[in-house]
Amino acid sequence: MNVSDSERAATVLGDSGFEITSDEASADIVLINTCSVREKAEHKLYTRVGRIRHSERAMPTIGVMGCVAQLEGETLLRKIEGVDFVLGTRAVGRVAEVIGRVLNGEEGIVDLGEREENYDWTVADTHRHSPYVAFIPIIEGCNKFCTYCIVPFSRGRERSLPAPEIVRHVEQLKASGVKEVHLIGQNVNSYRPDSQDGLQDFAGKSAFSKLLRAVAATGIERVKFTTSFPRDFHDDIVEAIETHKNLCNWVHLPVQSGSDRTLAAMKRGHTIERYYKQIDRIRNASRDISITTDIIVGFPGESDSDFRDSVKMVEYCGFDMAYIFKYSPRPGTPAFALPDDVSLAEKTIRFLELERAQKASQNERLRRYLNKTVQVLAENASTRSSGLTGHSTCHKVVNFSGSTGLLGSLVDVKITEIKSNSLFGELV
Ligand code: 5AD
Ligand code: SF4
Repeated sequence: MNVSDSERAATVLGDSGFEITSDEASADIVLINTCSVREKAEHKLYTRVGRIRHSERAMPTIGVMGCVAQLEGETLLRKIEGVDFVLGTRAVGRVAEVIGRVLNGEEGIVDLGEREENYDWTVADTHRHSPYVAFIPIIEGCNKFCTYCIVPFSRGRERSLPAPEIVRHVEQLKASGVKEVHLIGQNVNSYRPDSQDGLQDFAGKSAFSKLLRAVAATGIERVKFTTSFPRDFHDDIVEAIETHKNLCNWVHLPVQSGSDRTLAAMKRGHTIERYYKQIDRIRNASRDISITTDIIVGFPGESDSDFRDSVKMVEYCGFDMAYIFKYSPRPGTPAFALPDDVSLAEKTIRFLELERAQKASQNERLRRYLNKTVQVLAENASTRSSGLTGHSTCHKVVNFSGSTGLLGSLVDVKITEIKSNSLFGELV
C-alpha cells in the first residue's frame, strides 16, 4: 500500500510539473513515506532525516507522508528538526498543492484531512515501480482492530472503491501494456462497495469474489490480490481462482498465531481449526495454489505452549513463505495496555525456531517445482546473473536465462534449481 501511495504521490507531482528523481542528493524536496506497523519501521524515519541533515549537501525541503505522519501530525515538526511539512495517509492527492504552499513560504503545514470529494483513485499512474505490473487499491483502511495493530488508527475506516471504476482502470492498464494487476488493500476480501454496480449476480457470493470474476473477465493476463483476512475468506474466492486461469494461484492469508488463546487475545475473530479448514480447501483446489502468511511471535501472554501451537501450525500448513515478526507494542493500540511480558531474548529464540520450522516446510514446498514448467512475467534484468528475473503466477521469484528483448513478456520457464527463496530455470 505504501509503494502504491508513493507511486500516486510521484504521479500527482509529475502531472503538476515537478521533476521526480530517485537521487536523493540532487533533490530540492525530499518526501519520505513512512510505516508505523512496527517500532523499527518508525525509527527509520528518524535516522533518515538525521542522515540528510548531517550530510554535506544543501538542506532540502523535507516532507513526511504515510502512517507516521498521520499518527504524529504536527508533533513531527517539533520532534524532528528539518521536517518542513506533514501529509497524512488521505492527503496524497493534495501533495502538489501542499508543496506549492511550502514553496510560497508557508510554514508548518500539516494536512491530515480526508480525501477530496472528487478524488480519483484510478488516475493513470505514470510512476509505477514496473511498466508491466500495476497496484490497484480496491479498499483502504481497516475496521478489524486486531489488538496489536496500529493500521485502523493510521488509515481510518474501510472504504471500497466502486467496481466499475476498478474494472475501467484494469481495462486502461491492459490497453497500455500492463500484464499484471495487484488488487491491494489491508483486507481485500472485506471489499464492500456501496452499490453492486458492475458486479454480476452470483447468489450468496461475496462482493470480493464477484469483483475478482469481473476483473478476470477483462482478459488482463494476470490478477493477484493481497492481503486476505481469514475471517472474511470464503470458498467462493478459491472457486473464482479455480474458474479463471488469469486469477493467479497465490493467496496471502496472515494467520498471526497457531494458538486459540493468542488468537482470541489478538481479537482475530477465528479459531485455528477454522483456519486449517480454509488451508485444506485451498490445498484441495483443482489448481495448485501457493499460500503465504504473516506470524507474530511474543504477543503479550504468549506462553511456551502457545508458541508450540504456532510451530505445529507452521508444520501443518506448509506455507510457501511466511513473514515472521517479533511483537512490537504500538502506543494507542489495545494491546499496548498489556504487559509486554515475553523478553526480547525469548522473542528472538521463538523467531529463530519458527523460522527454522518454516524453512523446512518451505524447502519441501519449493521442491515440487523442480523440473516443472511455470509461467513467468519477465520483469527485470537480473542483478545476480546475466539473465532475467520475474515472478511466477504463484508469486515466486524466478531467475532464468534470456535476453532483455523478452522484458514484459510472459514466458514458460522450466525450473532446474531451487534456492531458499527463489527458483532458477531455463526458458522452454
Ligand atoms: N508487532 C509485530 N508485528 C505486527 N504486525 C502488525 N502489527 C504488529 C505489531 N504491533 C504484523 C502482522 C501483520 C503485518 C503486516 O505486520 O503480522 O500481518
Ligand atoms: Fe491490522 Fe488486523 Fe486490520 Fe490487518 S486486519 S490491518 S492486522 S487491524
